Amino acid sequence: SCYGATEKEKTLAMMKPDGLYGNYDDQIKKMVLDSGFSILREKRIQLDEHTARIFYAEHSSKSFFPSLVKYMTSGPVLVMVLEKENAVADWRNLIGPTDAEKAKVTHPHSIRALCGVSAERNCVHGSDSIQSALREISFFFVKSLASKWCCFGLLCVI
Ligand code: PPS
Repeated sequence: SCYGATEKEKTLAMMKPDGLYGNYDDQIKKMVLDSGFSILREKRIQLDEHTARIFYAEHSSKSFFPSLVKYMTSGPVLVMVLEKENAVADWRNLIGPTDAEKAKVTHPHSIRALCGVSAERNCVHGSDSIQSALREISFFFVKSLASKWCCFGLLCVI
């Protein structure tokens, strides 16, 4: 038999240190729920340098990497698993472009326009693909939450 809740797509959302410092969490959560997402899990954590470096490993060669790691470890973050049809793309649309300064001009109703200030301090994160969502949900939560899993007798596969 198979598990993994529903067939709906999931994505990883994160409120970054600025989002929490600015007390935007309730406002962001309202936008999340008003947009039809279910919040399956959430936890508030303090990233350490090692964890932040692994989470953002794909950007490790970029010039902004050390600054990004420093920012992401500067205070607690809130990680959430969001579920809805088309969750990955819809969450990226709701948060708006990476550079929050540009978002204020081009996507004034986006979350980053609301609480972000720059490409670094953009207050929220969203997985950029279904593959990334699987990796990022497994990174912070149990792997079985990220995808469907089925058991055949004692053998369970994801
Ligand atoms: S890139 O260069 O296109 O891969 O960048 P992008 O995918 O837009 O952003 C990846 C994450 O890196 C952060 N970022 C930055 N941090 C600090 N300084 C600068 N200049 C900068 N540019 C991008 C950005 O906030 C992205 O973080 P996430 O958490 O994925 O939104």
